[in-house]
Amino acid sequence: MKTQRHENIFSLETQNYQYVLGAGKSGVYHLHWGGKCRIEDFETCELSEQNSNHSVLDFTKTEYVPFGGTMYREYALKCVFDDGCRDTVLEYDNCNIKTDCIEIILKDRKYGLSVSLIYKLFENSDIIERYAVIKNESDKNIVLEKAASAEINLPGERAYTIINSNGSWGGEFRKTEQKLESGTISYESRKGTTAHHHIPALIAAENPAEDTGAVYFAVLAWDGNFKVSAARDFSGKTSAVIGLNDFDFSKTLESGEEFRTPSVYCGIANGLGEMSRKMNEFAVKNVLPKRFAYENLPVLYNSWEATGFNVNEAGQLKLAKKAAEIGCELFVMDDGWFSSRVSDKSGLGDWDVSKIKFPRGLKPLIDGVNALGMDFGIWVEPEMVNPISELYKNHPDWTYNYKTRKPNLLRNQLVLNLTKPEVQKYILDFLDKLLSENNIKYIKWDMNRPFSEIGTDNLKNGKELWYRHTRAVFNIVDELKKKHTDVQFEACASGGGRTDLGSLSHFDMVWPSDNTDPVDRLDIQQGYSLLYPIKCMRAWVTDTNKEARPVSMAFRFAVSMQGSLSVGADLTKLTKAELADCKKYIELYKKIRHTVQFGDLYRIMNYAEDKIYFTGYVNKEKTQAVYFACTGANSFFNDRDVTLRFKGLDENAVYNVKSEYRKFRKSGAYLINRGIDISYCKPLESEIFVLEKE
Ligand code: DGJ
Repeated sequence: MKTQRHENIFSLETQNYQYVLGAGKSGVYHLHWGGKCRIEDFETCELSEQNSNHSVLDFTKTEYVPFGGTMYREYALKCVFDDGCRDTVLEYDNCNIKTDCIEIILKDRKYGLSVSLIYKLFENSDIIERYAVIKNESDKNIVLEKAASAEINLPGERAYTIINSNGSWGGEFRKTEQKLESGTISYESRKGTTAHHHIPALIAAENPAEDTGAVYFAVLAWDGNFKVSAARDFSGKTSAVIGLNDFDFSKTLESGEEFRTPSVYCGIANGLGEMSRKMNEFAVKNVLPKRFAYENLPVLYNSWEATGFNVNEAGQLKLAKKAAEIGCELFVMDDGWFSSRVSDKSGLGDWDVSKIKFPRGLKPLIDGVNALGMDFGIWVEPEMVNPISELYKNHPDWTYNYKTRKPNLLRNQLVLNLTKPEVQKYILDFLDKLLSENNIKYIKWDMNRPFSEIGTDNLKNGKELWYRHTRAVFNIVDELKKKHTDVQFEACASGGGRTDLGSLSHFDMVWPSDNTDPVDRLDIQQGYSLLYPIKCMRAWVTDTNKEARPVSMAFRFAVSMQGSLSVGADLTKLTKAELADCKKYIELYKKIRHTVQFGDLYRIMNYAEDKIYFTGYVNKEKTQAVYFACTGANSFFNDRDVTLRFKGLDENAVYNVKSEYRKFRKSGAYLINRGIDISYCKPLESEIFVLEKE
């Protein structure tokens, strides 16, 4: 990794690539992102003469272009100055260069606006972190109406394929590929969290494939309203703007105040597989909260699917006993334990333990769980209130609302106005008390509805609520973590609505979907694995609807063992044989979980193309690997064999390969180049291959 400057050309060298930009009189221009070159060979770009048909800015590659002048395409920044002027002119002012970071400072001198563009490098990595810091150096207010994190320019003039997802609740991360021939493709959230629909990232490739073709990616670390806008201009060039959504966005910068945009992690990879491996490793090293980043996540039991709201001491202990017997290490009691919470209609906001369900308080349950050798975790939904609650009775003004409008009661609840310091304090205090008074080691932080009627009576600029809310959530989690250092936090929002690198900079893991059907889950998990760290993906084994689709325990475990294995089935209803199966697979998982959670991922075969999923995880030393083969719900191969070719192994090593059905010894080279022939004749068959280097 290296930074360099030659005249007004700036270069950042990652492990394998180079990013070059040039400062001209009227801005900062993009010069290169790709293979390494000599910095002396680059020339500064200066804007040429323009005419009324061709705005030069239409086809100039810029790094952070403001709204104004002849800028007619998507811009990164829009300001409104005190005198009503909405035209921003950024000129290059200065730079700061360190070995791992370049800061380019741009100024609108007339209005006292300064914009610092930050580019940061990381040891042994191809990722560059980018963000902007916008500062008001004048004595008047400046209103930001857009403040993106970065502009991304892709090389060449060919049309790129843009990869993202077209998800929904229960169907998160359904991968899509769209060729961007002309115009704009835009992905966004307007719901207050990242939501279930799109990934806050740009993934662009000319010919997307797992192992070949340059893939350019930029991943936004933000949980909230975001926008990724990729456009192809008339000359064939593709660029994108990524960051906070400008939908209903505004930020008043008072004199001396600065605004830092969320980070975007940008990189290049050879194929989608390499992109995932790079981002997985990078996130563990540089994004996840430090405390647990390198720890294997415990096998968790969660009560939601077994007991719903119907939780009590005896029932939870009954489940906990079984959970301990099969090898779970952490028992999480989900929704329903507090105040009047018997359904989703009441109780949110009143976080005292239900006297009816837990007349002796939580202590006997937690002690019981601890005596079984497990840690205890608990569910909360701190940002919400049910109108049927003491909190709402006492503080009806603590929600986002307009006095003149009837609120939309999605899931019978309202969103608390977290931009109010007193609301933040209430949440911090109740969680601090809960964690201080009880031996709780895990918080599942849920968030079950999008924002609506977004009125605030406390903010001068009401449109600031969107990002202020997200920052308040992050601050509360950070504060709690400072004091309760041994508590892990899971982010959940009706399943995967809060799955992004923003939450994963503060929470230790995520719940990627409420859909625990193992067949659907294979696609959801593959989509998740594109950019996000495997160890953070909680994956429950649950009961299946036997009439709709009977799925074996073996298959269910083969799916959930591809992330952070968890169990959500009603263990009190399982047969002895089924419980023995659970125990067997949990034991196996503990032997391979470090490889799954920290190894390199290979999506080798997928259902759409191969009628089988074959996915591998190889540890960094290539001494252990685990591969999961799962046929789909409709795979009838009958007389057809399938050849499984393994990836990621050491070609020169010999591996002992073991699965439930076979045991053999082969060289890495054979397994990679020839592979093994197997007949999977039935739908929903699975096989877990564990490879140990000799
Ligand atoms: C939605 C979550 O995604 C579920 O896992 C569960 O915690 C429920 N909320 C509880 O209300």
